[in-house]
Amino acid sequence: MPVVSATQRAILEAARFLEGGGVISFPTETVYGLGGDTLNKKAIQKIYSLKNRPSNNPLIAHVLNSSWAKQITCGWDEKCHLLAERFWPGPLTIVLPKANCVPKESCGGHNTIGVRSPNHKVARELLDKFGGPISAPSANKSGQTSPTSAEHVRDDFGNDLLILDGGNCDQGIESTVLSMVDCPTILRLGSIDVSAISEIVHTVVVSESNFQTDSPGTTNRHYSPKTKLVLQSPREIEASSSKEIVYLTIVSQPGCSMKTIQMPTDAQSYANRLYAAMREADSVGSTTICVERPPIGNEWDAINDRLRRASSN
Ligand code: TXA
Ligand code: MG
Repeated sequence: MPVVSATQRAILEAARFLEGGGVISFPTETVYGLGGDTLNKKAIQKIYSLKNRPSNNPLIAHVLNSSWAKQITCGWDEKCHLLAERFWPGPLTIVLPKANCVPKESCGGHNTIGVRSPNHKVARELLDKFGGPISAPSANKSGQTSPTSAEHVRDDFGNDLLILDGGNCDQGIESTVLSMVDCPTILRLGSIDVSAISEIVHTVVVSESNFQTDSPGTTNRHYSPKTKLVLQSPREIEASSSKEIVYLTIVSQPGCSMKTIQMPTDAQSYANRLYAAMREADSVGSTTICVERPPIGNEWDAINDRLRRASSN
């Protein structure tokens, strides 16, 4: 099964395929997902094995709206209602205790479930046609860079997977993961920044932890290219310039002869371009990918977070 353009008909066929326990890839506004029926253990099992994902790393269930979210969670309260009203559809994943109808397998054996309502026409039509929650991790092999185009998904999974092509993802960085189980805690930084969330949930903690138990997918080296990646200042880059290295730079290096990928200067466009640039740099066969350290500040937090992880040993 090849990459298919996400026409109405293709979406309907994909929904039928999901009903039969199949697994497909579909676009969201953040990254492409590898989706299956949340309530079907066999479909969930396929996702884990296709992705090579450790069985304790829970999946995000994609829902059309908050009433769907309420059906698969426990404790959907006024705060969750306000969060959904403000940020859904969009890149916010809310973690709550799971409802009994959800198999533990869909949550990596945990008692909690992450839910989010994606803001992408194709994802929403797919949910609508399928009529139930779709669990989907990012559609990359475990531990590698997330895909922001249908081609990226095909690069990782080949032609055996049905991939709905809905173009390049707008955001380019995965959703913000917010646990509402106890005290509100950000488990993964993402496109929605902490200050926006704290307007609704007044005290919000950003988890510093990279332990498997909290949010397994946030362990370091989860967002890494195969080539070693280092972060450097423009000055260090100038001093280190080598033809064996691919450089991702924001400030252009005048007269440089090395292989460089010019990155956008604003955070939104940078995020949008980051994973594609990392994949491009990875394909060169250089010894190192050298990334110019991006600016700091709220809007750059998720980008710096992913780069820090990608550069960790
Ligand atoms: O933007 C996104 O979130 C994309 C698109 C496809 O929706 N999905 C995505 O899924 O990035 P994945 O599986 O690659 O990352 C989900 C993250 C992981 O770090 C996982 O551990 C965490 O969310 N997570 C999911 N459910 C959780 C739960 N019940 N408790 C704690 N962490 C959870
Ligand atoms: Mg992922």
